[in-house]
Amino acid sequence: MAVSSNMAARDIETMIHPYTHLAKHREKGPLIIDHGRGVFLYDNQGKRYFEGLGGLWCTALGYGNEELVEAAASQMRKLSFSHIFGGKSHDLAIELAEKLKELVPCEASKILFCGSGSEANDMQMKLTWYGNNARGRRAKKKFISRLKGYHGVTIAAGSLTGLPAVHTDFDLPLSSVLHVSCPHYYRYGLAGETEEQFTDRMVKEVEDLIEREGADTIAAFIAEPVMGSGGVIIPPRGYFEKLGKLFAKHDVRFISDEVICGFGRTGNWFGAQSTGFAPTSVSMAKALTSAYFPVGAITIEEDLYQAMLDESRKIGTFGHGYTYTAHPVGCAVALKTIEIYERQKIVEHVRKMAPVFAKRLKALVDHPLGGEARSLGLMGAIEMVADKKTKAPFDVKKMVGATCVEFLESLGVISRAMGDSLSFCPPLVISEDEINEMFDLVEKALDMTEAWVRKENLRAA
Ligand SMILES: Cc1ncc(COP(=O)(O)O)c(C=O)c1O
Repeated sequence: MAVSSNMAARDIETMIHPYTHLAKHREKGPLIIDHGRGVFLYDNQGKRYFEGLGGLWCTALGYGNEELVEAAASQMRKLSFSHIFGGKSHDLAIELAEKLKELVPCEASKILFCGSGSEANDMQMKLTWYGNNARGRRAKKKFISRLKGYHGVTIAAGSLTGLPAVHTDFDLPLSSVLHVSCPHYYRYGLAGETEEQFTDRMVKEVEDLIEREGADTIAAFIAEPVMGSGGVIIPPRGYFEKLGKLFAKHDVRFISDEVICGFGRTGNWFGAQSTGFAPTSVSMAKALTSAYFPVGAITIEEDLYQAMLDESRKIGTFGHGYTYTAHPVGCAVALKTIEIYERQKIVEHVRKMAPVFAKRLKALVDHPLGGEARSLGLMGAIEMVADKKTKAPFDVKKMVGATCVEFLESLGVISRAMGDSLSFCPPLVISEDEINEMFDLVEKALDMTEAWVRKENLRAA
């Protein structure tokens, strides 16, 4: 038992684990990871695991990439830190900003760096407010985001996130954040409703909300092109195109949270390009450095930049920045990561692997637990249901998803469940053989889960 080991006991007595049942953790103890190679992790007992979730949707180039290690180490030797406050700069930040401007799927005037996805979305909110104040639009402050959307955990980003656990007893969300429905056709489509009608209903909900609140109060809408942590939810056809028209009409910033979808994950450089999403601005993090160093960024469009210039003239500075904004080691790692993506033609590789990944995932629908299988590029999920015909879910308290994740872990696959949706987001460098080997184990875990569901008689509950 893990808790009997000295390391496990020390963990329990010293650390708070994010997104963990803290009381159960005291009994179960941690899974202690020791090292990683390629698409595999190894625990401190030497057991091997497929990294089915790419760390936390971030380790795009897998583990042990010597080029990235060298990029970080040589930059640390040359210049371990340099900030960009007060007009200081360094060549790596300049080069990275230029590269990102070239790659992003929107008209970016400037890049503003930070250290994480939460910070990126936090800045989206601050900068939207700041820009609207500068332009005298003092009421235009509200953000719209979606239930089940994930945008991080700081006070602003956590407010944008549409998951109850991120709000409950944290006094969130902020009153300036309004949540609309999750556009998941399989789960929330009405009987007899076509996908197109569903899209129209989702868009109408947003339109009605803008009308009710007043367009002069709605500043921005933020969405992941494909919801990741919410259970890999792919928008219905036409959704972002129709929303885009609505937001153009009402001058609402249309923000694509590319923290998971960016840098090849969906088979394009950015998820927006795979989903008909024409954003005003994007948030980036995670695969920007393949998680070898924490770096995030947002794009600033020209009219927002002009408003920021005006504020500087008025206030005397731009009153925002982190010590680690444009950290030189992070910039060096990000530049090397992008260079590798380009050299290894990672987007093409994802497009080649996506059908293999999708085929194995789709086959799980034939399993007795299989409800919906969904994927785009190399991110996907299988939603387990109690009744395939009616799509009835299991009682949430039975923790079917979490139990299946435990079976998977015992077989050597790391995944996560959102409710009863098992998510997969392997490193982008995964090979065809590795995809097949991983899904062979997933099938076994589903069999183990089905046997447990029957033994516990969970369908009758
Ligand atoms: C889409 C999206 N946005 C933002 C975040 C928050 O990023 P971080 O955990 O780096 O703060 C995440 C994290 O999973 C994410 O998936």
